[in-house]
Amino acid sequence: MSAAFIHLDHVSKAFALPGGRRFDAVRDVSLDIARGSAFGVIGMSGAGKSTLLRLVNLLERPDAGRVIVDGVDLTALSRSRLRAARRGIGMIFQQFNLLLNATVEANVAFPLEIAGEPKAAIARRVAECLDIVGLADKARSHPAQLSGGQKQRVAIARALTTRPGVLLCDEPTSALDPQTTRSVLDTLATINRDHGVTLVIVTHEMEVVRRLCDEVAVMEDGHLADRFALDDDAHQPATGLARELVASLRQPALA
Ligand SMILES: Nc1ncnc2c1ncn2[C@@H]1O[C@H](COP(=O)(O)OP(=O)(O)OP(=O)(O)O)[C@@H](O)[C@H]1O
Ligand SMILES: [Mg+2]
Repeated sequence: MSAAFIHLDHVSKAFALPGGRRFDAVRDVSLDIARGSAFGVIGMSGAGKSTLLRLVNLLERPDAGRVIVDGVDLTALSRSRLRAARRGIGMIFQQFNLLLNATVEANVAFPLEIAGEPKAAIARRVAECLDIVGLADKARSHPAQLSGGQKQRVAIARALTTRPGVLLCDEPTSALDPQTTRSVLDTLATINRDHGVTLVIVTHEMEVVRRLCDEVAVMEDGHLADRFALDDDAHQPATGLARELVASLRQPALA
């Protein structure tokens, strides 16, 4: 038994390559993430960050190990129970993945529509979620009429409709300029602090970690190379890369 909200227990994932070879993208990672934390995952390109994130909601099924979220072993669930459990795990992506021909409110309504919820309840929840991300006035707009930051906030609203306990964020601001990045980080901070949503954020931007995260894990060649709390000034980085990252994290934030 673990008290962690998210518990990865010796999780591994390999991908088949042409020619019958296999590539180990995530190798024997064990990781606990506390409820309510804003947890960063950093590392070089190809280190396995996105794969690790996708293992948390079983978008990738591990070859070995268990994925336990809120006390439930997702790897042991039937397809229908997994679908239900996934309502508790939201996800957003670098490229927003909005429906371009649908209005903002239709995009946000989408997860509730496919769940077959009553129309009045959907309308109410969509309004609440657009309010949380500060886009109540854009309900009738189309994505093309929004800035990148606003599009990402629509994606956040859509992810919140099912009241997830955790939001998985894969490079949520990497497609954005600094100004709109700020608005997205503010929104993520609000849902973490005021709405108690646990965040797991894959990013290559140290600024994102500095502004948002309380803990960070370092992925290196599929391994979990290091992990530390940002306020742990005594932490001794476990690898050379971790040392570089810690040094850059401790540089003063840009204005
Ligand atoms: N579906 C797949 N099939 C084959 N290989 C894959 C697949 N998905 C990921 N990989 C490989 O696994 C490794 C880890 O990929 P992953 O996307 O998790 O890295 P990442 O740390 O998120 O990198 P980036 O910072 O570039 O997004 C990479 O070498 C990638 O090419
Ligand atoms: Mg990635």
